[in-house]
Amino acid sequence: MIEKLEEIKNEAQKEISSCNDEVTLNNIKSKYLGKKSAFTEIMSNMSSLSQEEKREVGSKSNEVRTYLQELLENKLKEIKDTLLTKQLEKDKIDITLPSKKRRTGTLHPLTQVRQEIEDLFISMGYDVVDGPEIDTDANCFELLNLPASHPARDAQDSFYITEEMLLRPHTSAMQVRSMLANVEKKPFKLICPGKTYRRDDDDATHSHQFSQVEGLVVGENISLSDLKGTLELFAKKMFGKDREIRFRASYFPFTEPSYEVDVSCFGCNKKGCSMCKGTGWIEILGCGMVHPNVLENCGFDHTKYQGFAFGVGIERVTMLKYGINNLKLLYTNDYRFLKNFDRKEM
Ligand code: DAH
Repeated sequence: MIEKLEEIKNEAQKEISSCNDEVTLNNIKSKYLGKKSAFTEIMSNMSSLSQEEKREVGSKSNEVRTYLQELLENKLKEIKDTLLTKQLEKDKIDITLPSKKRRTGTLHPLTQVRQEIEDLFISMGYDVVDGPEIDTDANCFELLNLPASHPARDAQDSFYITEEMLLRPHTSAMQVRSMLANVEKKPFKLICPGKTYRRDDDDATHSHQFSQVEGLVVGENISLSDLKGTLELFAKKMFGKDREIRFRASYFPFTEPSYEVDVSCFGCNKKGCSMCKGTGWIEILGCGMVHPNVLENCGFDHTKYQGFAFGVGIERVTMLKYGINNLKLLYTNDYRFLKNFDRKEM
């Protein structure tokens, strides 16, 4: 029995040392020390032995069991360590690699330009007001001195919802609303940025929906020079301090006199280039002195008060400011385009 135990020990030792996975190790364990093993069989036959033999075999079997259990334990630890080392090797992180840049959202260029315009006028004491995008024919046209025969009132040009209601074709409707809302008929200065709608076919320079900023100042002794000074500041703020402006006589039913304002071309500084079509000037907005009829329509005494007004397209300013040649880029949310306006990265 002693030899048999020695044999078991040697064989098990050999198998354990050449084993390198946990499942095989468990099999070895039950093969040599488990219930059906030769070792257990020897143990159960002990009763037939003499006292002397019992002691000898008993101590040998204890030695073998302790020895094998230790071997098994060490082997198991070795297997687990190897596995862990391999895993760590695989998951290794190279901390010297540059990190990925996390991108966060940015304000849309149209929003940035609108806010820039708002900031300028707020700094000059203007209120910023908001109005509905669906308005009445009266506010959009009638009270703005647009005669019924005016082409802008043609249903072909505006999105009418009912006979009386339409998507506002310009923010000028807010002139009427703000003057009517001013019950005390006190002087005021305001701008109104917002969306506007016209029945245009969408292309590189037209969109059925766009945005404008309306400006309106009403008070005593307001003159054309106030309008000029204000718009000159506006042009310099939006397009650079070296810009000049010029007024061209024009016609809008709600202003008298009316003007279109050009800014000196920033591509060529008035020499003439493709951007200004060789003229040296770029048209940026419409403006004028508020027509007496409009003041009266909205409850302001035109013999006491005067006003100036202007309307500027936010898309147009944005396109000119950033050299964007296709209006659609401002509406299609292409990340490759929008990321150029990330102020944080500039
Ligand atoms: N409402 C005009 C447009 O949409 C722009 C405009 C012109 C607004 C002259 C004004 C103004 O306030 O005085 O084309």
